[in-house]
Amino acid sequence: MIYMDKHKTIFDILKKNNAGITNAAIKLRRKIHQYPETGHQEFKTTTLLKKELQKLDLKIVDRYASTGLWAEFDTGRKGPVIAVRTDIDALPVTEQTGLPFASKRNGFMHACGHDVHMAVLIGTARLLSRHKDKLLGKIKFICQPAEEIPPGGARPMIEAGVLRRPDVDVILALHVDPTLPTGSIGIRDGVSMASTYDFDIKVFGKVGHAALPHETVDAITASSEIVSGLQQVISRMVDPIKPAVISFGTIRGGTVRNAIAGEVTLQGTARTLDPALTKKIPRLIKRAAVDIGRGLGARVEVTSIANYPPLKSDPRVNRFISESFRAVGYGGKVHQIPLVMGGEDFACYLEKVPGAMFRLGVGNKKIGADKPWHHPAFMVDEDAIGIGINTMAATVINLLQNWRGGTR
Ligand code: NI
Repeated sequence: MIYMDKHKTIFDILKKNNAGITNAAIKLRRKIHQYPETGHQEFKTTTLLKKELQKLDLKIVDRYASTGLWAEFDTGRKGPVIAVRTDIDALPVTEQTGLPFASKRNGFMHACGHDVHMAVLIGTARLLSRHKDKLLGKIKFICQPAEEIPPGGARPMIEAGVLRRPDVDVILALHVDPTLPTGSIGIRDGVSMASTYDFDIKVFGKVGHAALPHETVDAITASSEIVSGLQQVISRMVDPIKPAVISFGTIRGGTVRNAIAGEVTLQGTARTLDPALTKKIPRLIKRAAVDIGRGLGARVEVTSIANYPPLKSDPRVNRFISESFRAVGYGGKVHQIPLVMGGEDFACYLEKVPGAMFRLGVGNKKIGADKPWHHPAFMVDEDAIGIGINTMAATVINLLQNWRGGTR
C-alpha cells in the first residue's frame, strides 16, 4: 500500500477526489451511447477516445488492428507494466430504452455496456494522471474493436504487438453486469466463461429432381445427418464430467420444393470450459462432419470462424481487485460469479499474460436496469461508473506497487 503521509493512503485520496472525473465519465458515456458503431467500424468512437487520451498527454498508437488504439502512460519510474483493456463496439440492435441520450443511429445500440467500459477506462486514465507523480511503472490503455463479432478484435491487437514493448505484466478489464446490484462487483478464480469455437460447414452434393434421388447427392439429408451426428461428438467423444455444447444457429440450402439441393451451409458454435478440450473439439467436429458427408457421397468443408480459449482469471489478480475495491471504501459485496457457457475475446489476452476480468454491478430494478445483455431495453445504473473508475484505478495502483508475479 502506498502511504502519502502517516495516515492517508493513495486510496483515501482516490475516493475523495473524483466527483468531477465521474461526472465527466458519465457525460462521455452518454455521448458514446448516442453513436454506437459495430465491430471494425468504430471510427467516430476511436476518434473520440483518442481526443480524450490526448488531453492527458499520453503516447497514442492508433489505427491499430483496424479501428483499435492504445495509449502508453509512463510515470518515468521503474515498475511493472499494467494494461487496462476496454472493448469499443456496439450491436445491431434497435434501442428501446426511451432514454434521452438513446442511440441516434437507428438499428444500432450499445446493448452490452461497452460504452460504460470506455467511460470507465477514460475516467481511470484521468484519475491516474492526476496522481502521476506518486506512481511508478507504466500503464497501457487498450481500446479494442470488434469484441462482438467473431473472430473478434483481441487476436489482431495481440498479433500487432499490443502486449509487447513495453511488455505487459498484468492485464485488467471489467464487464458490466446487470445481474449484480450497483455497489458490488463479481469475480471468479480460474475459468468463468467458455471457449468459443465458431465454425461454418458447407455440404456439397449434386442437384437433381426430387423424384430421382438416386441420380443426385442430397445435400439436405447429408446435412441432417451431420447436425445430429455432431451431437454424438459431445455425448460419445467428450468426457461426460466436462461440460461441452454444440449448437447450430442457421441452416441454409436448396431452391425449390421439388429439386434436390446441391449445397447447404450450416453455422454452428461449440463451447467448452476445458482448455485441452478447446483444442480437441475443432478436430473432432471436422472429422465427424467430413466422414459423415463422405459416407453419403457429399463433400464437406469445415471453416473456422473464431476460436477463443476459455476466460481464465488469475486468482492472484482477483485478490488485488477485491482488496482494492474494499480499500477505496466500497463496503459492497464481492460476488462469486457463476460459470457460463458464453464467450469473451478478452480470454485471448489472458492466454498470454496473467490478468482478470471483473464484473461491475450495474443492476437496479427501480430504474429498469435489470434487462439482460443485448436486450433492446438494456440499461445500466450510472452510479456504478464512479465505482468502476475508483476500483480500476485502485487496482492498477495496487498492482504497480505490489505485483511480484512476473509474467507467465
Ligand atoms: Ni460485452
